[in-house]
Amino acid sequence: MKKFSVVIAGGGSTFTPGIVLMLLENQHRFPLKEIKFYDNDGARQEIIAEACKILLKEKAPEIAFSYGTDPKAAFSDVDFVMAHIRVGKYPMRELDEKIPLRHGVVGQETCGPGGIAYGMRSIGGVLELVDYMEQYSPNAWMLNYSNPAAIVAEATRRLRPNAKILNICDMPIGIEGRMAQIAGLKSRKEMRVRYYGLNHFGWWTRIEDLEGNDLMPKIKEHVARHGYVPNSASHAEASWNDTFAKAKDVWALDPDTLPNTYLKYYLYPDYVVAHSNPEHTRANEVMEHREKQVFTACTEIVKAGNSAAGELEIDEHASYIVDLATAIAFNTQERMLLIVPNRGAIPNFDPEAMVEIPCLVGSSGPEPLQVGSIPLFQQGLMGQQVAVEKLVVEAWTEHSYQKLWQAITLSKTVPSASVAKSILDDLIEANKAYWPELK
Ligand code: NAD
Ligand code: G6P
Ligand code: MN
Repeated sequence: MKKFSVVIAGGGSTFTPGIVLMLLENQHRFPLKEIKFYDNDGARQEIIAEACKILLKEKAPEIAFSYGTDPKAAFSDVDFVMAHIRVGKYPMRELDEKIPLRHGVVGQETCGPGGIAYGMRSIGGVLELVDYMEQYSPNAWMLNYSNPAAIVAEATRRLRPNAKILNICDMPIGIEGRMAQIAGLKSRKEMRVRYYGLNHFGWWTRIEDLEGNDLMPKIKEHVARHGYVPNSASHAEASWNDTFAKAKDVWALDPDTLPNTYLKYYLYPDYVVAHSNPEHTRANEVMEHREKQVFTACTEIVKAGNSAAGELEIDEHASYIVDLATAIAFNTQERMLLIVPNRGAIPNFDPEAMVEIPCLVGSSGPEPLQVGSIPLFQQGLMGQQVAVEKLVVEAWTEHSYQKLWQAITLSKTVPSASVAKSILDDLIEANKAYWPELK
């Protein structure tokens, strides 16, 4: 079997060790000859990389491993770029969340003004990765899950239309795992779904088992009472558990479908703000827990020189990344939800919008499946949100204050143009080191 070379961009990510462990577990179907890490923060990456080096030496010494901050070394001779960068890292995520909250508006990593601010930072970072890939490994594919995926996907559609980049999100996968549990199935792979929307903004319209039996009634009955919180204990942290529970109210708005949890930020922003602590947001939780845990474990492993010295968890559900890589590498034609140009898949929706829909994936890329016409409620919500995402990309390209103000004003999470302007002015101040200077 052919063996592949992969570069993980954002090597210093909290998710990197879990993904490396997941790649090791999947060697039978996606064999690797080389793993490289690339990051623009060498010191942060070094801790993760030195621990992964020990881990790889113990578990798979045949896989070559290296890491660094030099794009040429990192992006040369690779088959896949797995990208999960966070431009500005957690301190900027914290500001994305806290600045809107100061104005009584949802403060969230990917939704509302915070997501817009993050988008303005991410666009340049992800385009740079695309350009390195095209320069040093023009036949490679980039599997991107850097956020905010909706804005990043729109930016690559507009600014790098021919790039071999696939944008994917794990939220539907996480929710489908819960649905499978609710339906009494062992795995989400025992379900076949229809779904449409934008990234972090979509709905399931059909969920069936592999014999074609409709699972929606059973799942809906559960969601109506408990949201996506399954009966047996789930491992989610409290803030995520609230999000899964709130899906109950999101669902109530359109009982024909089952919603993505992220819709709560658009449909219940008042509730979200009332339940946020403006002094302590999700970024603080992640810095205090996941980031601390991963970096402590890696430091311990490096100090001891063996992987048993620190606890690193395999990111089981990240195996969708291997599903995607193998679909391209071995032309498996696997059915997956990807963020792709609409081009008529939803005939009564903007053909140029980036939508999240089922695609068959093979060695020439994704082949989107026909969704069909969508109801007015979804059409209206999605049209507004797509306009926000497009305006952000135009604002970034044209350095336009006006367009960014329009984008924030148009976000369903924001009550007025005056509030939008106050938030924008604070965001500009906070993002000086990352955003183009707006005129
Ligand atoms: P993190 O801050 O721990 O890691 C991100 C890394 O990217 C850091 O080491 C940072 O130095 C590096 N980086 C930043 N800008 C860079 C640039 N321009 N070039 C190279 N490296 C750069 O963040 P994390 O919480 O581990 O998340 C990583 C990313 O994955 C985020 O964008 C997050 O939103 C995303 N994510 C997406 C999904 C999804 O569903 N699509 C799921 C989980 C995480
Ligand atoms: C889900 C979403 C990602 C998002 C992440 C945030 O996985 O699909 O897009 O980045 O949640 O999780 P966190 O634990 O960092 O708040
Ligand atoms: Mn996501």
